[in-house]
Amino acid sequence: MDLGISGKTALVTGSGRGLGRAIAEVLADEGAHVILVSRSPLELEEAARGIRERGGSAEAFPLDLADGAQVADFFKALPHGPDILVNNANQNLEGYLDFVDVPLERWLWLFEHNMGALARVTQAVLPTMVERGWGRVINLGSLAGLLGGAKQVPYATLKSGLEGFTRSLALEVSRAGVTVNVVHPGLVLTERTREVVKDKARKWIELKTATRKLSTPADVAHLVAFLASDLAGNLTGGSYLVSGGVELGFSV
Ligand SMILES: NC(=O)c1ccc[n+]([C@@H]2O[C@H](COP(=O)([O-])OP(=O)(O)OC[C@H]3O[C@@H](n4cnc5c(N)ncnc54)[C@H](OP(=O)(O)O)[C@@H]3O)[C@@H](O)[C@H]2O)c1
Repeated sequence: MDLGISGKTALVTGSGRGLGRAIAEVLADEGAHVILVSRSPLELEEAARGIRERGGSAEAFPLDLADGAQVADFFKALPHGPDILVNNANQNLEGYLDFVDVPLERWLWLFEHNMGALARVTQAVLPTMVERGWGRVINLGSLAGLLGGAKQVPYATLKSGLEGFTRSLALEVSRAGVTVNVVHPGLVLTERTREVVKDKARKWIELKTATRKLSTPADVAHLVAFLASDLAGNLTGGSYLVSGGVELGFSV
C-alpha cells in the first residue's frame, strides 16, 4: 500500500528516542523527509543518522519547545513548512504523586511546557498547511487521558485535553484539507516507561490486555503513519487507541 507521502515533509516533536523516534523512522521509510526535534542533540543526531543509513531523508534540530523565542527562530529558518506534524513530545512529573502533593507551581509549569509547546508549534505550521490545502496533525495522547490514572492527575488532565483540542481544531481546518487526529497508546515499553514500570505491573497489564501483549513503538508508528497518509484524508477529529484492548472487560 502506498501511503502517498513520499516527498512530504514531516516534523516529529520529541523524536530522539521512544515513540517519536519510531514514528520518524516509519514516516521516513514511507518516503517523507523527516525533521526531528528535541532538546538532546546527540540523541537526535543519532536518530537522524540511523534514518539516513537506511536510505531515508532526515534532519535533526535541537530545540526546546518550551522556549517561544527558540521555536520562532526555528520556524523562521525552516525553508519548507511541514506537511505533517506529529505532536509527540511530552514532559511529565518525575515519578507518581497523589494530586494533593503536586505543587501548584509544578502543575502550572507542566501546562506551560506541554500545552504551551503544543500551541506554539501547531500555530506555527497550520497557516501553511491550510494555504496548501493539504496537512496532517497527529497528537500523541494516552489511555490515561481517557481512563484516568492513579497518581497521574496532571498527565491524565493534559492528555484528555488533547481530545477537545483535536476535535475542535478539526472543525476549524478540515474543510481546507488539513486533518487532525489523536492517538492514545496504552503502555508501550520505551526507555522512559522501562524505568518506571516494574515487571510485576507490566505482567499484570499484559494479563488484563485482550491480546495478552503490550503494543510496540512500531504499532503506534504504523497507525500514526496511516493517519498522516494521503489515504486518510477523510479521517479527522478522531481518537484512536493502540492498546491491545487493555481497556476492555476481563476475558478469562
Ligand atoms: N510510552 C508509553 O507507554 C506511552 C503511553 C501513552 C502515551 N505516550 C505518549 O507518547 C509520547 C512519547 O512517549 P515516550 O514514552 O516515547 O516518551 P519519552 O521517551 O519521554 O519521549 C519524550 C520526548 O519528548 C522530548 N521533549 C520533552 N520535552 C521537550 C521540550 N521541551 N522540547 C523538545 N522536546 C521535548 C524528549 O526529548 P528531550 O528530553 O531530549 O528534549 C523526548 O524525545 C508522549 O507524548 C507520551 O505521553 C507514551
